[in-house]
Amino acid sequence: MLVVEGGHTLEGTVACSGSKNAFLPIAAAALLTTEPLKVTRVPDLADANLILNILEGLGCEVHRDFENSSITIQAPEEPLGEAGWEDVRKMRGSVYVLGPLLARTGAAKVSLPGGCVIGQRPIDLHLRGLEELGAKVEIDHGHVVASVPGGRLTGAHIYLGGSSGSSVGATANIMMAACLADGETIIEGAACEPEVVDLGRCLIGMGATIEGLGSPRLSIQGVEQLGGCEHEVIPDRIEAGTYVIAGAMTGGRVKVEGCDPGHLSVLLARLHQAGVPFEIGDGFIETQSFNPRDPQEGLRATDVTTLPYPGFPTDLQAQWMALMTLAPGISVITEKIYPDRYMHMPELLRLGADLRRQNAGTAIVVGGKRLSGAPVTASDLRASAALVLAGLVAEGVTEVHRVYHIDRGYERIEDRLSALGAVIRRESDPWVG
Ligand code: EPZ
Repeated sequence: MLVVEGGHTLEGTVACSGSKNAFLPIAAAALLTTEPLKVTRVPDLADANLILNILEGLGCEVHRDFENSSITIQAPEEPLGEAGWEDVRKMRGSVYVLGPLLARTGAAKVSLPGGCVIGQRPIDLHLRGLEELGAKVEIDHGHVVASVPGGRLTGAHIYLGGSSGSSVGATANIMMAACLADGETIIEGAACEPEVVDLGRCLIGMGATIEGLGSPRLSIQGVEQLGGCEHEVIPDRIEAGTYVIAGAMTGGRVKVEGCDPGHLSVLLARLHQAGVPFEIGDGFIETQSFNPRDPQEGLRATDVTTLPYPGFPTDLQAQWMALMTLAPGISVITEKIYPDRYMHMPELLRLGADLRRQNAGTAIVVGGKRLSGAPVTASDLRASAALVLAGLVAEGVTEVHRVYHIDRGYERIEDRLSALGAVIRRESDPWVG
């Protein structure tokens, strides 16, 4: 568990890591070639290790150099074609091996991920996209069993939008598969997230022909084969945003270095609206000192609605809620990607926040109340981050239990926060047997 003593203003500089959500599909893209793929700026995270274990299970050779944040992955001539429930259960990102395996070998068997605490997370768009490329897909005893009659996928015109808009994972999976399909694939309703663009850049480095990255229409010209390359992962915009919000909540000067402020435009716009002073420059965002609780010059209640990029990221919704607990007045949070992603609410209530669920997807924050430390339970990665942030400003001590979630997405968060002046330490968790 993490034990946080509230009331210390953060000051200093924190370096941004490589993006977890960009690295996961990029690692899976190594299956598209037999040549080595070297990836740099790899975050040292539980989820990064998990995808590497899965790739090893499929027969890839993986050379880990976490000291230099670099990984080299080399897929075998004939990768094994199965990722089992044990792996997929631990991380839904495992489903990224489906498209590349199918495109390279003509067959794949990957366990079907179930729902998770942030809500239903179907993969129907991934499967539909692969079928449109000519794959035969069946669900068999909890597995996706896919094969390609004739051995090679065929380019197609595919619409990938779902009821919540575009899908990051489906776009990544279909884009990877289409790189080795015969002919041209057009993806309409493609996700525009920087992580998808980064994957596309890596695939281009491997020899793929892709146009339209960052737009909702991708055109991919299939090639005979791909080769290896060296690729540096983009900075983690969600990690960066979390530390920026930490600076804002404690009213301190926190400089997040090595990030891309352009990937966080909507967060910065909302922070500005909320009265948080900050500066941005080439590769950094720095919050400025202020008193968040000052009635005139402090935080202002500010609504957000999560949407696909460039909208407000769902992965910063919980942290925004923590921030808004300090802003006097009412702020409305609308979650359009995962309408049930509010597991942090009952825990924030335990710290004294005044929060209410409205109709599906909407939460009301009545901000400006005093927060006081208490034991709380983390339910998912971003909820954990929100609880740590709230602990930084709550009076007394907050114990965040089941904090293993946070290690999936934040590199050594307690060290980084301590270096900024937080009083936080990791202890063994009596709640985790
Ligand atoms: C990615 O998940 C991220 N994960 C998530 O980050 C992030 O919250 C999410 O994108 C949205 O930005 C990784 O990159 C590994 P989606 P993904 O497909 O790809 C629906 C974190 O905390 N949908 O873009 O699974 C879906 O239910 C994690 O780091 C379908 O209906 O998300 C959701 O409502 C959590 N059918 C919406 O689309 C499908 O086949 C967007 O999901 C796929 C998705």
